[in-house]
Amino acid sequence: MERAKFSKFGAIAVIAGSAVGLGNIWRFPYMVATNGGAAFILLYILFVVLICLPVMIAELTIGRKYKKDAYGAVVCTLNERKLPVVGKILGCLYVILPLLVISYYCVIGGSTIDYFMRSLGIHIPENTGTFIMWAIIFLAMCAAIVFTGVKKGIEKFSKLMMPVLFVIVVLIAVRSMTMPANPGTEYTSADGMAFLFKPDFSKITVKTCIAALGQAFFSLSLGCGVLVNYGSYINPEHSLTKTAAQIALSDLIFAIIAGCAVIPAVFALKADPMAILADNSDSKLVFNILPDVFPSMPMGSCINALFFFALILAAITSAISQFEVPVGFLNEEKGLSRRKSVIIIFLISAILNTLCAVRGNILNAIDGLCANWLMPLGGILATVLAAWVLSKKDFFDEISSNGSVKVSVKSVNALNFLIRYIAPAGILVVFLSQIIK
Ligand code: PHE
Repeated sequence: MERAKFSKFGAIAVIAGSAVGLGNIWRFPYMVATNGGAAFILLYILFVVLICLPVMIAELTIGRKYKKDAYGAVVCTLNERKLPVVGKILGCLYVILPLLVISYYCVIGGSTIDYFMRSLGIHIPENTGTFIMWAIIFLAMCAAIVFTGVKKGIEKFSKLMMPVLFVIVVLIAVRSMTMPANPGTEYTSADGMAFLFKPDFSKITVKTCIAALGQAFFSLSLGCGVLVNYGSYINPEHSLTKTAAQIALSDLIFAIIAGCAVIPAVFALKADPMAILADNSDSKLVFNILPDVFPSMPMGSCINALFFFALILAAITSAISQFEVPVGFLNEEKGLSRRKSVIIIFLISAILNTLCAVRGNILNAIDGLCANWLMPLGGILATVLAAWVLSKKDFFDEISSNGSVKVSVKSVNALNFLIRYIAPAGILVVFLSQIIK
């Protein structure tokens, strides 16, 4: 069967749909908050450009070259060097990792449904049971969409909702940045802006570096096979580098605007913003602060509902990209029907979701393990495959889309150098500094 192909805009919408999600709106603001503000953002941008963009191109390259699910692409690439067993072992990373991410992503995704219902006036008191319930509802929605097939289901969905979410987040950011300070608070929203944009370099520590790298990987959906999988659907005539750059840029803009929507409001509304921002355990920052912002906006309750609705959709487009990877493995590698594959992955994820929903500390631990360690490791795997295992000629052919895209040999060589040396070395340096510490 011929593999479906994304249209040009479709590819960007689907990959950006995977990238933009809870990582930008839930995770980024609290990572910025707990890791020192502007200095973290600068490091984040540096890592996106020097490490993540090359990793992203590497993943798309091997995905499109072999037109296979992520595991299959790893095996095929290593087959070129007659290393099928190594391929099978390493390929497992791209099956297990997305499953691990789903295990907690859906729990936070479930919270977005809960907050959407609250915005409609339906408030079911929070307890472990309801936590599990929302997570499973969220997971079931993803499974249903994945079941309808890649192109039809996902592409349509993403195109529609991304612009809506963007406009809402911009509106909230404008409100948050102009929010009058609460009487009795010592700070104003301007202090929040300074926290976000005036770097204090003494705040850069090993912990900040690993957090910024992890956040960049998480936010761009890297290192877990998602982009290898999506790369396999990209039209062979379209430019991979352009697609990657557009996605990285939109993701970055989204994250920074989300930061502007959350942080200044904390300063304007809360008596002790510094304590709130420094609280490591507060991964619910966005859920706690935004419901206090909406009432001060014109048509606030409407915007509240619309925001959480759009956030559910953004989270779903990210979660389905994770879901697709192990489903693709069962479907393409193990020959199970798509339906059976979806059901099996649904059941495994439901068990993992329940575990994460029962214990918040398990959720945080798996999140840290995936984003800070396993995803960058998966990124190294992609760079090795694309720049060391794949021949230079094959690499050139993919980047130039077999002649459809005009690129100079020099620029492809420069890109190859970044993927071959700079990106993996950068990741290793951050890893080593953490280990030595
Ligand atoms: N990038 C997504 C987000 O920011 C999360 C994600 C991680 C998606 C890993 C796919 C794979 O919400």
